[in-house]
Amino acid sequence: MKIAVVGTGYVGLVSGVCFSEFGFSVICIDNNVSKIEDLKKGVVPIYENELDKLMLKNMNAGRLSFTSDIAEGVRDADIVFIAVGTPSKTDGSADLSYVYGAVDELAPHMNKNAILVIKSTVPVGTTRAVKQFLQDNGFDIEVAFNPEFLREGAAIEDFMRPDRIILGIESKKAEDALKRAYRPLFVLSIPIVFTGLETAELSKYAANAFLAMKITFINEVANLCENCGADVKEVAYAIGLDKRIGEQFLQVGPGYGGSCFPKDTSALNDFSKNFGVSMPLVEETIKSNDARRIKMIQKIMGVCDNDVKNKNISILGVTFKANTDDMRDSPSICIVNHLLKNGAKIKIYDPSFSEQAKKIFKDAEWSNNAYDNCNGADVVVILTDWAEFRAINLADLRRRVKNPLLVDLRSIYTVNEAKASGFVYCSVGRPFIEG
Ligand code: UDX
Repeated sequence: MKIAVVGTGYVGLVSGVCFSEFGFSVICIDNNVSKIEDLKKGVVPIYENELDKLMLKNMNAGRLSFTSDIAEGVRDADIVFIAVGTPSKTDGSADLSYVYGAVDELAPHMNKNAILVIKSTVPVGTTRAVKQFLQDNGFDIEVAFNPEFLREGAAIEDFMRPDRIILGIESKKAEDALKRAYRPLFVLSIPIVFTGLETAELSKYAANAFLAMKITFINEVANLCENCGADVKEVAYAIGLDKRIGEQFLQVGPGYGGSCFPKDTSALNDFSKNFGVSMPLVEETIKSNDARRIKMIQKIMGVCDNDVKNKNISILGVTFKANTDDMRDSPSICIVNHLLKNGAKIKIYDPSFSEQAKKIFKDAEWSNNAYDNCNGADVVVILTDWAEFRAINLADLRRRVKNPLLVDLRSIYTVNEAKASGFVYCSVGRPFIEG
């Protein structure tokens, strides 16, 4: 079986590499010629653990190749996956121009027995509309939908060991082709859900919106904890033991970011209205998450007596989450920019050494490790929960700072660690510790 994947972003590249790891012959296609040239040299454009090794292994085995020529790429493919971006438009709806652009370009070159599978996250009804678009233009091409559930920083693991595969299909042909493509997972007894196009499309949005809502819920519980003396980490643990709730995605923080939750909650909130349905829970999740960034700014300003002018602030972590270099919709963007605008002297250490971050925070200084970043600091602020920050020697940090004030927006330390550290410790969802 030969697979073509259009789009070599976080989803397309990981999917293409993993399908080649399954043993299929895979060609990854992108209209960004320089990106394709880099990929041909084995250079991975995204920060994804182990992706480079897996990519090179399959390139060397002759199973994985790259091209910017979409006609060449799809010609012999039995399945063509579309994994291009569907970014938010200013009104919150999904921009489908890249999807339709790819379909328009590849349709004349697909072989007649191949199927087209949309993997990009698209509003309900899009797959059927693409099918109609093809028919209106004289192409009788079978179209299916196969959402991804890849977390950045864990994408290979999520592809190779998913909780489930969801396949929106309308023919035996599509079912058989996709069963073959995912056979290595099928034999591992990973549930494969064959369903209709609209159900598959909505399942993707419903999953992301629910996860975003779950995070927002625990962040709102954290607000109450701060005022009633409860400990949100213990509340999260206590409720997470209920199998109906589950322990995951109950980590407090500055609110969710990234390329998916913000985009997908906005798109769901938008297109549900097109079907005459409002989704107030999704709408409130978006509002609450947006407001949380302001609340985090107020928390930092509050412990700085609402004056950060000329204060040396050490920021630990700026990416939207750990194990990525991705800054898309990271809460740090508005938080750090507010501090810069109010005269703070910002020094940043992020373990990903994100180039995106350096372009965003042009007026900040940068360090190569957390300890140097805290030398002479008036305030230390933890924005991202990188594992290495949990292992920091707080006593060493205490000796380096000018003023022992630690604002931990991910509440990564235990209350006892904080008390023993000698820092004045301000976290999320727990009492303020005077130090
Ligand atoms: C998400 C979904 O998890 C994935 O299934 C989907 O395919 C793409 O979108 P991703 O955006 O890569 O993946 O990251 P994720 O790990 O879900 O975190 C998203 C945001 O939520 C991050 O800002 C993270 O810091 C935040 N988060 C996550 C929390 O604040 N608390 C948590 O407990 C978990």
